[in-house]
Amino acid sequence: MKKVLHIVASPRGKASRTLRISAGLLEKIRTVQGKIELDTLDLFAEKLPEMNVTRVGGKYMLMSGQELSGDAVGAWEQIKAHIDRFLAADIIVISTPMWNFSVPYVLKHYIDIIAQPGFTFKYTESGPIGLAGNRVIYIVSTRGGDYSAGSPAASFDKLDPYLKQVFSFIGFTDIRFIAAQPMDANSEEGREAKIKEAISKAEQLV
Ligand SMILES: Cc1cc2nc3c(=O)[nH]c(=O)nc-3n(C[C@H](O)[C@H](O)[C@H](O)COP(=O)(O)O)c2cc1C
Repeated sequence: MKKVLHIVASPRGKASRTLRISAGLLEKIRTVQGKIELDTLDLFAEKLPEMNVTRVGGKYMLMSGQELSGDAVGAWEQIKAHIDRFLAADIIVISTPMWNFSVPYVLKHYIDIIAQPGFTFKYTESGPIGLAGNRVIYIVSTRGGDYSAGSPAASFDKLDPYLKQVFSFIGFTDIRFIAAQPMDANSEEGREAKIKEAISKAEQLV
């Protein structure tokens, strides 16, 4: 049975437009894959470990090729648990709204936790290489405004380019983007049409 990790970066629950689209995506994944094991990581409900001085100290040990030692060993247990959970999935789905042109802070926090040398990427003589790819990742997003390719605000969008950069860095080559926009600068009917369009794109991608 395929394991799907759904990372939720909107706090809006039933009111979330992004989650409506990812519900359609997950439904299609279920239809295609048969039964799936769904692990939902709600980034606003679960308290992520802080990247404090001890945990960051551990990161510097790893970056300089040392093992974790001292207080960093215990402090890294929660980081390792998140990395294990991330690596255990066959399919990853991220549901994220645009917040201030990029991702909500909880998603940035999560990325700061899982992007770790020796775990999801490693340094080599020819530069860093990703260790966490080999799987598909779906990035489902909504935006209040319209930043689609060719629109006047297209270059303001730091959400898709950032996620593409960071997930490529840790090894993903199959990154599938599904977006609905504009959500707020739109009529009710216009918004619904965009959400439906995004759900059918998601279904096609699966
Ligand atoms: C804190 C915050 C910041 C936002 N920043 C932007 C932004 O920079 N650009 C934009 O187009 N919409 C922005 N929005 C609007 C959301 O992206 C939009 O309403 C989205 O559809 C919300 O998704 P959700 O319903 O899944 O939570 C912001 C919303 C919030 C709450």
